[in-house]
Amino acid sequence: MGSFSSFFFSLILLLALPMKPVRGASLYAESRWVVNEGGERVKLACVNWVSHLDTPVAEGLHKQPLDVISNKIKSMGFNCVRLTWPLYLLTNDSLASLTVRRSFQNLGLLDVIAAVQAKNPHIIDLPLIKAFQAVVKNLGDNDVMVILDNHRTEPGWCCGGTDGNGFFGDEHFNPDLWVEGLTKMATLFRGVPHVVAMSLRNELRGPRQNVPDWFKYMQSGAEAVHAANSDVLVILSGLSFDTDLSFLAGRTTTLTFSRKLVYEAHWYGFTDGQVWVSTNLNQACARITGNVMRHSGFLLGKGFPLFFGEFGIDLTGSNLNDIRYFHCFMALAAELDFDGALWSLAGGYYFREGVAGTTENYGVLDAEWAQVKNPSFLQRISSLQVPFRGPGVSGGSPHQVIFHPLTGLCVSRKSGPESLSLGLCSNSEGWNYTNQQIVPMKDRSSCLQAGQVGKAVKVAGTCSASDSRWEMISDSKMHLSSKVSDNSTVCLDVDSNDVIITGACKCLSTDSACDPTSQWFKLVDSTGR
Ligand SMILES: *[C@@H]1O[C@H](CO)[C@@H](O)[C@H](O)[C@H]1NC(C)=O
Repeated sequence: MGSFSSFFFSLILLLALPMKPVRGASLYAESRWVVNEGGERVKLACVNWVSHLDTPVAEGLHKQPLDVISNKIKSMGFNCVRLTWPLYLLTNDSLASLTVRRSFQNLGLLDVIAAVQAKNPHIIDLPLIKAFQAVVKNLGDNDVMVILDNHRTEPGWCCGGTDGNGFFGDEHFNPDLWVEGLTKMATLFRGVPHVVAMSLRNELRGPRQNVPDWFKYMQSGAEAVHAANSDVLVILSGLSFDTDLSFLAGRTTTLTFSRKLVYEAHWYGFTDGQVWVSTNLNQACARITGNVMRHSGFLLGKGFPLFFGEFGIDLTGSNLNDIRYFHCFMALAAELDFDGALWSLAGGYYFREGVAGTTENYGVLDAEWAQVKNPSFLQRISSLQVPFRGPGVSGGSPHQVIFHPLTGLCVSRKSGPESLSLGLCSNSEGWNYTNQQIVPMKDRSSCLQAGQVGKAVKVAGTCSASDSRWEMISDSKMHLSSKVSDNSTVCLDVDSNDVIITGACKCLSTDSACDPTSQWFKLVDSTGR
């Protein structure tokens, strides 16, 4: 995206700021949407902030002052943090009362102590539970909502299939202790309005997992949290590392309360092994999107909010499987317009899996927690940080935007009356894909028309099915193709200046190495932004 300068990047960040202040908001589930007290949609655009590792202190406080980090989260367009915590922080008093200093000392992290003392002198001698509260408070002071996520039982990295933390009844997963910890956490943040939700347990998994126990224990956890704090949304994760909620197709959760239930799913590139590099991308995307819909996405259609609590990629750009998965993720995320939390914020960790000072390739911040590691990635996901539609979203009449997953931009009429280019989705044109497979502007005055290969696509006044027909082809249905005068098939494409052109269709099937994504377009329902 050579045509986007850093000036534009700043502009995007500015525009991506949530439109409504979050303070004082208690949230509700209204059909598939999360809404505020006024019934208007609040899209949860979160980032995961790890606070459940061995120390367990919110990561990064040795690199930047707490307030700088919270402010950075906001300035990156996130309105919310999924803050992870180990159960023992609430159920083990000798852990909770340990000071941050002592906790680092116990792990031999002496240089970290000096650094936290320098950057966050008000934190270093707090008991761990008070340090956790200070982080939550500071996020609120920066107008960032918080989802408290019980990540595992004892402090440490998550998740292995046989680490004793996977399912109710596992060695380190006592259901009674879990309910006690959830109750204490819910009570601790009662009346704190920016703490909007609790996700009850991260990534259930392992040999003991089963559906009857899922209902039994998740319902009891949900009731306990609601009894202790009726303001928070209760977020329930699925089985198999939170990739599977398919069992809810035939049975629903029974709870004594309503309008507070949200489901959670996780979706990474590695969830499906190496499929993204071993298969034609149109075919992989169609197949995996189908799986995701069957395992969790269907819940939106059943009228439940579905929060994608973990997604993300290696942001160093060295993992092709991740890169290719994310093209497909972007398309579904825009189409379904779901709430979610990027994994993760961390530039690195104090101590992970026995190693001090590790880096996090999936983190948006660099190792110093100062700069955005990959600005074009952040620009790309900024299109997902604001809602396309939902209750109270703008006032525009329903239409579609032509979303380009590769860039996170939308087809806009920008560089002249007749030609089109990519621009911010927030001020893109409205379109309507009709039964006749033509793509008129919202006001029906003119239509998309293919031209010669390599030349700009035109927006012209004749909207006849003979010269303005666009079919969605390939397994992904994201190639918009048209027949031109010599009867050859061409595809909507983008050139290196972000101008929308007519291209020769590429990578439609079979070839697993080639990349079709400059030609991927998704018609996304919108009510204006
Ligand atoms: C409670 O935490 C302390 C300090 O981390 C630890 O030594 C102890 O083993 C924990 N107790 C239990 C019951 O896990």
